[in-house]
Amino acid sequence: MELIGFSIALFLAGAALARASPSPRSTQERCSRVAFKKLPATAQNVAFTHPPSPNNVTEILDFLAQSVREGVETNGTQTVSGEFTINGVYCKPTGHHKDRNTLQLLVHGITYNSTMWGGYGLDDRYNWHKYANADGYHTLAIDRLGQGLNTRTLDPLNVIQPALHVEAIHQLITAVRTDSPKNALDRGFNKIAYVGHSFGSMIGTSIALNHPGDATALVLTGYSTTIDFRVIQSIHLEPAAAHSPARFPGVAPGYVVFASESERESAFYGGAYDPDVAQHDFAYEDVLTAGEFAAQAVLFQPAVGYTGNVLAVTGADDIIFCPLGGVASCETILRETGDAFYPNASSFEVYAPADTGHDLTLHYSVPTTLAKVHQFLGKHF
Ligand SMILES: *[C@@H]1O[C@H](CO)[C@@H](O)[C@H](O)[C@H]1NC(C)=O
Ligand SMILES: *[C@@H]1O[C@H](CO)[C@@H](O)[C@H](O)[C@H]1NC(C)=O
Ligand SMILES: *[C@@H]1O[C@H](CO)[C@@H](O)[C@H](O)[C@H]1NC(C)=O
Ligand SMILES: *[C@@H]1O[C@H](CO)[C@@H](O)[C@H](O)[C@H]1NC(C)=O
Repeated sequence: MELIGFSIALFLAGAALARASPSPRSTQERCSRVAFKKLPATAQNVAFTHPPSPNNVTEILDFLAQSVREGVETNGTQTVSGEFTINGVYCKPTGHHKDRNTLQLLVHGITYNSTMWGGYGLDDRYNWHKYANADGYHTLAIDRLGQGLNTRTLDPLNVIQPALHVEAIHQLITAVRTDSPKNALDRGFNKIAYVGHSFGSMIGTSIALNHPGDATALVLTGYSTTIDFRVIQSIHLEPAAAHSPARFPGVAPGYVVFASESERESAFYGGAYDPDVAQHDFAYEDVLTAGEFAAQAVLFQPAVGYTGNVLAVTGADDIIFCPLGGVASCETILRETGDAFYPNASSFEVYAPADTGHDLTLHYSVPTTLAKVHQFLGKHF
């Protein structure tokens, strides 16, 4: 079912590309599904003092509500260790531009998966891969653990947590950098640009802190250190399996989704966008896990010691990460984010696209955003 959805998206994107330009490579030739299998990872996950019982929906939803209202009590850490598979979409440069021998690693936010970076095949302008590939970059959009094509059988509370995401992605980067047998790409890369959206950006900051050699540069989108938790508190969640039994059959209730289309639209969209995109976004939303949500406080630590180059890009109408609204105030918030969380970065640049909400790659301003991001990257790769 999901695979069919994906090939249709690829087909549509390919068709649009063929119409737009006589590109030497269509999306189908450029992009392929890859799986990094059995990546070994060990993480110090949070141990919750009063965890919900794993099958009691009321307790899980109360626990999540409490975690964003006042936080939940924790009792140290617990070691989680295993071998994990991470699926993704890998696309190569188109040949318009010389190969920069650089991999952009694209990491999605909560309730999304790797397909978000392709713009769902709705319109080529939302396709990050296409723009980056035409500018000489390789792109790898991954599904974070528990999301996209990755298994949803892992414990959503104790196993799928921010610390494990950080270590699993670090292992993937190590496999790519050393071109080890675990590398699922057809070559290794020693230049990596980590590109995150939202929760993916928060994870990027934790990777920069814990593994500062992993990313040569970071692009943090839909991100800042000034977060309006009232927006997040107002969002109703429900178990994915109850919300959409056809898409998430038998998935444990600790895997949850947004329950309301209007709440999702007002949290993630703002300014100028196509309402059909927001509608599609809700109809095909992916999951978040109780553990990644409830333990997110571990991601609020400065990346002291990270000495690469960083660009923060957040929509001026992103009501979660730029709650004051407006380009000037948003760019001020982003500069403060750099001062607070990236004290040792070689450079920290900011950009706040006007008339743009949280899902900035799915708004009408996306061509300018992509141009600004690639202007920044062009200085460093
Ligand atoms: C905290 O964890 C320790 C070690 O696992 C355990 O002995 C203790 O009972 C826990 N404390 C609470 C309050 O749950
Ligand atoms: C779920 O938890 C709630 C609150 O702790 C409790 O009242 C209820 O009986 C539990 N439901 C089941 C089916 O165990
Ligand atoms: C990934 O997200 C897309 C778009 O939101 C959705 O259509 C698809 O079903 C998701 N993939 C899986 C495997 O759930
Ligand atoms: C990072 O910056 C802090 C604060 O500016 C400074 O005290 C520290 O020495 C720097 N650390 C490194 C590794 O450069």
